[in-house]
Amino acid sequence: MTSPAAPVRESVLSLAGVSKRFGAVQALTEVRLEVGAGEVVALVGDNGAGKSTLVKVISGVHSPDAGEVTFDGARFAVAGPAEAQAMGIATVFQDLALCDNLDVVANLFLGQELHRGPVLDEVAMEKEAWRLLRSLSAKIPSVRIPVASLSGGQRQTVAIARSLVGAPRW
Ligand SMILES: Nc1ncnc2c1ncn2[C@@H]1O[C@H](COP(=O)(O)OP(=O)(O)OP(=O)(O)O)[C@@H](O)[C@H]1O
Ligand SMILES: [Mg+2]
Repeated sequence: MTSPAAPVRESVLSLAGVSKRFGAVQALTEVRLEVGAGEVVALVGDNGAGKSTLVKVISGVHSPDAGEVTFDGARFAVAGPAEAQAMGIATVFQDLALCDNLDVVANLFLGQELHRGPVLDEVAMEKEAWRLLRSLSAKIPSVRIPVASLSGGQRQTVAIARSLVGAPRW
């Protein structure tokens, strides 16, 4: 994926010269991208064009071979997805990345569980799960059923709700 010249504006997210290669495949070639606060940007391209790879660079899954990523004015060398998440970058992955055997609450809070002292605060997580799902007008029968038993749309809603746990920015 290569990119056209970006408009000049104050950016929240800024990428310059970002390249990523997987073996013989050059997935990203000097990508330049500017995203302003509150702006909704769509990446459009053929299958295999590099859209997911670009999102994974932004979300800390892949480190770019070259280039610079700036978020909220600070250059970031993303050490991993947890660091990106801590900065306020939330991601909904194409394959949703849900754990089929876990219930909705466990999926929402996987890796960011709420605790009460040394024990998991299941009540607080369940309450917050319902709050997040309601905010998305989700029609989910129970938050205590494995996500394997949900429909495709319901699973997608759970994945989106999970990206909202921890209040991402913008
Ligand atoms: N982890 C990986 N290892 C090796 N090659 C990869 C990896 N991830 C992506 N690629 C390759 O990089 C290229 C870009 O893939 P990517 O998943 O970013 O495309 P995409 O634009 O998201 O496509 P789609 O519309 O099908 O989701 C493809 O040729 C793909 O095979
Ligand atoms: Mg993709």
